[in-house]
Amino acid sequence: MSLPQSAHPQSASLSHPALSAADPELAALVGAEEQLQADTLRLIPSENYVSAAVLEATGTVLQNKYSEGYPGRRYYEGQQNIDRVETLAVERAKAVFGVEHANVQPYSGSPANLAAYLAFAEPGDTVLGMALPMGGHLTHGWGVSATGTWFRGVQYGVRADTALIDFDEVRELARKERPKIIFCGGTAVPRTIDFAAFGEIAREVDAVLVADIAHIAGLVAGGAHPSPVPHADVISTTTHKTLRGPRGAMLMSRASHAKAVDKAVFPGLQGGPHNHTTAAIAVALHEAAAPSFREYAHAVVANAKALAEALLARGYDLVSGGTDNHLVLIDLTSKDVPGKVAAKALDRAGIVVNYNTVPFDPRKPFDPSGIRIGTPALTSRGLGTDRMPQVAEWIDRGVQAAAKGDEDALTVIRNEVAELMAAYPAPGLAVGE
Ligand SMILES: Cc1ncc(COP(=O)(O)O)c(C=O)c1O
Repeated sequence: MSLPQSAHPQSASLSHPALSAADPELAALVGAEEQLQADTLRLIPSENYVSAAVLEATGTVLQNKYSEGYPGRRYYEGQQNIDRVETLAVERAKAVFGVEHANVQPYSGSPANLAAYLAFAEPGDTVLGMALPMGGHLTHGWGVSATGTWFRGVQYGVRADTALIDFDEVRELARKERPKIIFCGGTAVPRTIDFAAFGEIAREVDAVLVADIAHIAGLVAGGAHPSPVPHADVISTTTHKTLRGPRGAMLMSRASHAKAVDKAVFPGLQGGPHNHTTAAIAVALHEAAAPSFREYAHAVVANAKALAEALLARGYDLVSGGTDNHLVLIDLTSKDVPGKVAAKALDRAGIVVNYNTVPFDPRKPFDPSGIRIGTPALTSRGLGTDRMPQVAEWIDRGVQAAAKGDEDALTVIRNEVAELMAAYPAPGLAVGE
């Protein structure tokens, strides 16, 4: 399946004349980054290309304005336009996700999650979340995070035989530990999250269920992953991953939790909202409501499945044996190449991934056994399933070159990658069009 270019809002040619004149050194760095994003195959599953419209919204004068509070209830005057911008973003979030309440002010995913703690738990309370090495996020109660030091983080994982979430363990821990909050969702989870199963457990122990859909928000919005809405009390998400918006976040909830959520974000945790970001979130949600976004979300999953199949055919071990979403976690143990060595070699080959732990990883988090890849960004450029065998071949050649220390082979791949990517203009970028 090849995704038509029109599936992504068309890019405008962007240059930076004022920036170039005022600060050529910085402008050159921005230009270099644009070139890098144009030339490379970006496979980090939490990254994407925003549209030119989203990019423009982040660079507007809305950033000049302070607006502590919420629409109609601000601590600063001059909110005639800002109130309407935020209301637009809130209403669009409610419509896209089918939720009763949305707060679009969290600065990013980590503060959004911290706001959920502030709303529903006291310091020292027990919270239950997925362990980081099993695919969970730092902010789900992991020890080095404030959420794991200020709260008592109890962690669940996946089954050793299937690499799927062990719901017997989740239920047992929930019954024993009686957490105030249960987090579900993660950062390296290649399979569908069973929100209904989590909801049932949360209700049984009277915990607040927070579904962190940061990675899969675009898939949920586009109908390519089940929605947590009927099951979760609160939904936390970043806006910059599969949702293809600016760097930011949202907390969504039932109406009954609206007050607690809003109070936790402001004044609990933050000051003035980033209005330019709010505007760009509104634009991204407008784009996510279009039929072409549904097509995009399904194409992301189709690409990930095709890539997983092609990697399996080349003898790669995939955590859980494949994927249901946008993400593939490769265990490189059998290839005798550590994840970090592979990731750095692939970077030199123009293929950008991140090294990642795999469940029950015998290696250390800073030098783990796996790499994590995903298809949101390449799908935004219009690559379809027909290209995934080629992508798998490059990854395979890159990993083999890493094992042999063959720098020439990496250079050859880099040139091949750049040549293909030139045929798929990157949304929002002035170069390569
Ligand atoms: C599941 C999940 N939650 C929260 C976050 C935190 O988001 P941010 O990096 O914007 O703080 C991430 C980021 O990777 C994530 O994957």
